[in-house]
Amino acid sequence: MDARPVGMFDSGVGGLAVLRAFRELAPAERVLYFADTAWFPYGPRPAAEVRKRAFAITHRLLESDVKLVVVACNTASAAALADLREAFPGVPFVGMVPGVKPAAQQSRSRRVVVLATPGTLDGDLLQRVVEEFGRGTQVVRVAGHGLAEAVEAGEVSSPAVRARLRELLGPEVARGADTVVLGCTHYAFLGPVIAAEFPGIATVDTSVPVARRAVDLLREMDALSPGPGGIDLIVSQDPEEFRRRMGQLGFSAAREEAAT
Ligand code: DGL
Repeated sequence: MDARPVGMFDSGVGGLAVLRAFRELAPAERVLYFADTAWFPYGPRPAAEVRKRAFAITHRLLESDVKLVVVACNTASAAALADLREAFPGVPFVGMVPGVKPAAQQSRSRRVVVLATPGTLDGDLLQRVVEEFGRGTQVVRVAGHGLAEAVEAGEVSSPAVRARLRELLGPEVARGADTVVLGCTHYAFLGPVIAAEFPGIATVDTSVPVARRAVDLLREMDALSPGPGGIDLIVSQDPEEFRRRMGQLGFSAAREEAAT
């Protein structure tokens, strides 16, 4: 048993998809969630800059004595996960990996789209999973320009978001893609609207498997918490606005407690 909190971070609301899945699986855990809104969006930034933020945030989370760090952001995982593991050998990390493996397994047309930020699409992590699991499948990379910004602003099904999705994914669906990997945690909130716009197209969201991996790791470490569970927040800019958006996404902001 270990009552210390679990640390989790993202550039903004995207990681809340992982947080939600984690809280469902392990309601007795306390999570310290760091939303790096001052640096949002990560996607278009150089990898070195995102890596610097990932290190600064990890240091801050460790100051609060977290027992595990979940990098609930694909862009930060691409830029920093391997380096974080090397730099903090005593700290267990769980990160996001684009779901190319399940997508390749379930695609009938053997054509899948990875929808992600430029940072994730350019990183070695995606290249590695495509080489390892994408054999025999056409993996098309599509940069979701503007999508994370829309989700961060609370827009998950507006006409503008739908139009953007049609513009980004329509040509690939017309070419026969039948599966879309949601390769950015913000896009997990777009799953329903993608399904509505493109009937018959499957989406792959890795929020739940990543949350499950974190719980499994805690169990292996014999570090599950006896409770009580809850969420503490650190928001690098405009915490009130972030709480409001959390509320819009279905999180009870009243139960949150400031950690800064
Ligand atoms: N949520 C982040 C990810 O998973 C990206 C959003 C951003 O561009 O900051 O990649």
